Amino acid sequence: MLDGKKILMIIGGGIAAYKSLDLIRQLRAQGALVTVILTGAASRFISPLSVASLSGQKVHSELFSDNAEAEIGHIALSRSADLVLVVPMTADLMAKTAQGHADDLASTVLLASDKPIMAAPSMNARMWEHPSTQRNLSLLKSDGVLIVGPEIGNTACGEHGRGRLAEISEITHSIIMYFGAHDVASAPECSLSGKSVLITAGPTYEPIDTVRYIANRSSGKQGYAIADAARLAGAQVTLISGPTTLTPPAGVNIIRVETAEQMYNEVIKSLPADIFVACAAVADWRVEAPVLGKVKKSKDGPPKLKLIENPDILASVGKHRSRPKLVVGFAAETENVVLNAKEKIKKKGCDIIIANDVSVTSGVMGGDENAVHVVGKTAVDSWPKIPKDLVAERLIKLFAKMLRREEK
Ligand code: C5P
Repeated sequence: MLDGKKILMIIGGGIAAYKSLDLIRQLRAQGALVTVILTGAASRFISPLSVASLSGQKVHSELFSDNAEAEIGHIALSRSADLVLVVPMTADLMAKTAQGHADDLASTVLLASDKPIMAAPSMNARMWEHPSTQRNLSLLKSDGVLIVGPEIGNTACGEHGRGRLAEISEITHSIIMYFGAHDVASAPECSLSGKSVLITAGPTYEPIDTVRYIANRSSGKQGYAIADAARLAGAQVTLISGPTTLTPPAGVNIIRVETAEQMYNEVIKSLPADIFVACAAVADWRVEAPVLGKVKKSKDGPPKLKLIENPDILASVGKHRSRPKLVVGFAAETENVVLNAKEKIKKKGCDIIIANDVSVTSGVMGGDENAVHVVGKTAVDSWPKIPKDLVAERLIKLFAKMLRREEK
């Protein structure tokens, strides 16, 4: 799946460096050509000889080396790849990259590169949580660096928390997805360059009192994946998200909300857009009068909650005077999935509904995979169960085509 893709892999000096050896193997098995730069510290964790044998290429590590510069200068090295990959990205290398330092081969290449950069950080959990690392993370993201992980788990230093390198299979998957979506983006018929895409994602929280709320099991993964795929296709993306634990994709304008009413207000404020994708699991009802403070238990029994209907965001956008050319709804159903979706197209004034089965046995809500039915006004296309980011990539392809048709 990565046939002929040129990956320049920078291995940082962390204990997780040894895992990058397996990554080299996996990337080569997918057909990629992997050239490696080892930082000085990394070569204390793994030997340049192992890296050279696994990558089948000369390993680069010196900035000031007459030989290396004569063979291939650091500028050429930074330009010859399709993707620059940093695994593991240490706290120190994050700081250097965020600040634009160039005092060794790895940092110089990162600064001189005009290619996309993907980094998988790994470090002690306290280092990861430190405000300076988090500041550097925000800077890197706003510079467009794609970040994979880190995960929560036990780190080599015997502590528990977020800081573990993402699984090698997860990093490989992100690279495959990146190139998949990138290929989509670069295919002219699938490009969304110059288009604006407005997406809602995640659940909404509807307060009962100051500490309690009504919510649902939506993770936001599908909406975030669509935002990422739309951005990779060249669109200007605004993602209006209910509460989730996800990191927003780089380069996307994220607006965070809690309630359906807040989501509604932000969506209407963000119009006009070329495409609207209502992926959020918006609560249908809210408590009419949430209590200020915490409701106490009483001998009169549980409080009676009076629910009232929330605004229907999708239906409002469907009939708005600035209606986007393409309005996409989602339908989470537990029965009669396709039939209900067809009804919803009419009811909500949208062009297409992406319907999925969210019954407990489907594992869709909160899971990483989705099996969707793409329900149009006349036709239905049922896709197999595939990862949510692949669903997103295919949907973006489809939306780009539909938009083009609308604009003709
Ligand atoms: O009616 P139902 O909730 O099944 O419709 C689902 C679709 O409508 C989704 O696209 C969802 O984002 C959208 N929706 C909305 N506002 C609501 C309820 C649902 O935008 N209040």
